[in-house]
Amino acid sequence: MKKESEALYDRYKALFKDERFPLAFVDLDCFDRNVAYVARTQEKTGKTIRVASKSIRSPDLIKRVFDQGKDAYKGILAFTMEEAGFLSDNGFDDIVVAYPSVQKSDLALFVENVRKGANICLMADSLDHLSVISKKAEKEGLFLNVGLDMDMSFRPLGNLLHLGVRRSPLHTPKEVLDLAKATMDLPGIRIKGLMGYEAQIASANDDFPSHRLSNRVKNRIFRAVKKASVNELTRRRGRIVRALRDLGISLEFVNGGGSGSLVSTGQDESVTEVTAGSAFFAPGLFRYFHEVSFEPSAFFALQVTRIPKNGIVTCQGGGYTGSGEVNKNRLPWPFLPEGLSYLPMEGAGEVQTPLKLPKNCRPLAIGDPVFFQHAKAGELCERFNHLYLVKDNRIIGTAATYRGLGHAFL
Ligand SMILES: Cc1ncc(COP(=O)(O)O)c(C=O)c1O
Repeated sequence: MKKESEALYDRYKALFKDERFPLAFVDLDCFDRNVAYVARTQEKTGKTIRVASKSIRSPDLIKRVFDQGKDAYKGILAFTMEEAGFLSDNGFDDIVVAYPSVQKSDLALFVENVRKGANICLMADSLDHLSVISKKAEKEGLFLNVGLDMDMSFRPLGNLLHLGVRRSPLHTPKEVLDLAKATMDLPGIRIKGLMGYEAQIASANDDFPSHRLSNRVKNRIFRAVKKASVNELTRRRGRIVRALRDLGISLEFVNGGGSGSLVSTGQDESVTEVTAGSAFFAPGLFRYFHEVSFEPSAFFALQVTRIPKNGIVTCQGGGYTGSGEVNKNRLPWPFLPEGLSYLPMEGAGEVQTPLKLPKNCRPLAIGDPVFFQHAKAGELCERFNHLYLVKDNRIIGTAATYRGLGHAFL
């Protein structure tokens, strides 16, 4: 193990020597530097940053982003209407619910929150969504703000190749425009903004460690595809925004990007704000980006409870895998001591996780901690009721997670 990571391991170990494991914590020094770094990416672009709350899932820490980042940050990208209501009740404002839903309870909450004065906008991508929202608004005698979500995937070979996520069916300017025109005829709703998330740029690693030839090749290909995709989507997004404005729709926001595309999305003139969430915890899947670089700040720690043989330790718990495509990169990333690896037949276990020590590792004893990063950012908080907060090498308190506050929004 390198001296630096040994020192960090010793520091974290000493901090938590009297605590109960498993535990999770945020190193606020790193978290705050990420907040400042994200703000700097937009310093010259004039864009504000909308916080993706799904990637934090702790009200105290969401608040900390706004407190630390000041005017650089504006608004929240929430993941459900229930979450939006909860955040609004807790003093947060300007909330865009980024994922459509027309279930009755969500629409009832939407109305209830708007009546309370909350500034909430719900994303939609089809007439099916919009007509249900419109009917509800008309029935209740009020106006509801909606956003249109456009598909930002890259289709270099037409329908033969789709690089990006499958969410909105609105890909071409004509598709967005047709829906916008139809929306204008629906009573009770108003198009407040436009959103387009370029997942193929914002969530695809393209800076894998270069000591391997295969990684160097992968990096080159991914970066070339990203460049072509950014060119294409910038042109398309620009055309869509201009066409909507020509139609007389005054868009209060045009939202784009995510943590991995802060630079390229920030350079897009048609975008008024960028989204960032994962940037703050910088989890396992946000290690290898070429255009941005964050400091890991959120971790969980397990205790070594058994030593099945020399060179292997077994920890209690640990199977906190990330959502998405089933793949090794969804496993938690063993962070410290450096160089630990999973056993191929076991991976991260439901109640026990064996780990192989690297050759040069100082031995671990029963009771010692092992530190990990979750693959994804906010999902860590679905496993813990609170996160310890570390600052200047001290535990200065805890922050409750949504789970700790009794909420399982999704
Ligand atoms: C609509 C939308 N915008 C932005 C993001 C980016 O979030 P993050 O910065 O946490 O990667 C996501 C992530 O899934 C998303 O779904």
